[in-house]
Amino acid sequence: MGELFTRASDQRQYDRDDVEWSAERISFASPTSVHFWEYLSSCSPSWLGKDLVDIGSGSGWLLDQAKQAGARHVVGIEPSRKNVELARRQYPHITTVLASLEEYSPSQNFDIAVAVMSLVHIGDLQEAFKKTHNLLNPRGEFQAIVPDFDYFRRPRHDYEVSFEDIDADEYVTMVKRPFGTLADIVRSIDRYRAVGNETGLRLVEDVPMPPTEKLMQTVPRYRGSAGKPMTHLLRFIVEK
Ligand SMILES: C[S@@+](CC[C@H](N)C(=O)[O-])C[C@H]1O[C@@H](n2cnc3c(N)ncnc32)[C@H](O)[C@@H]1O
Repeated sequence: MGELFTRASDQRQYDRDDVEWSAERISFASPTSVHFWEYLSSCSPSWLGKDLVDIGSGSGWLLDQAKQAGARHVVGIEPSRKNVELARRQYPHITTVLASLEEYSPSQNFDIAVAVMSLVHIGDLQEAFKKTHNLLNPRGEFQAIVPDFDYFRRPRHDYEVSFEDIDADEYVTMVKRPFGTLADIVRSIDRYRAVGNETGLRLVEDVPMPPTEKLMQTVPRYRGSAGKPMTHLLRFIVEK
């Protein structure tokens, strides 16, 4: 694999000196977390009274939302030391474990697993889905927000962007943003569906996520993408 893939799948990418995630999505106050929540909140009734794990929980904003939505027990797993410190400072009442999905050895199973834009850093998707399947109870559900294949392929907001192709359903993109340079692995929805089928997680819903009116009002440059999906909310159920 190439240099961009190596960077994208580096579990400590967010601890690099040239990345400051706290400047991007420090809490639920940031426009992108509000935007994700506008879609993800449709799943939150399914969290009531349930045990939930957030894979790649970053600053921890979703952990707090999950608690407020009535989840019984909430755990974040996050491999970046900087991000874990940030989450523990902001949400000391919630457990955040310093570990990647690959490293995590849970002491319990969960009803719901959520991953918001963290599968972009998973090099071996098949292993990650197997692990997620193992984390979940028999009637469990996996809810993930992933990039749109076409949207991430285009230059965005005058950012400096580079690409590395893997195959027809997968590429890596590296984007230089004001808070730092990050590399992401972008996959087609068909790739997610296929890996889900191979690992006992059946894709039951794919919700395209164009910018909402609220996001466009807060950050007007998103008007240029009106009507175009930027990300997708995928819902998988445990099948076997
Ligand atoms: C784009 S950020 C999203 C953070 C958070 N979910 C949010 O919505 O604000 C991706 C997060 O995934 C984490 N991550 C990277 N590799 C990971 C892995 N192998 N397992 C779990 N999380 C990972 C990163 O450290 C980072 O905090």
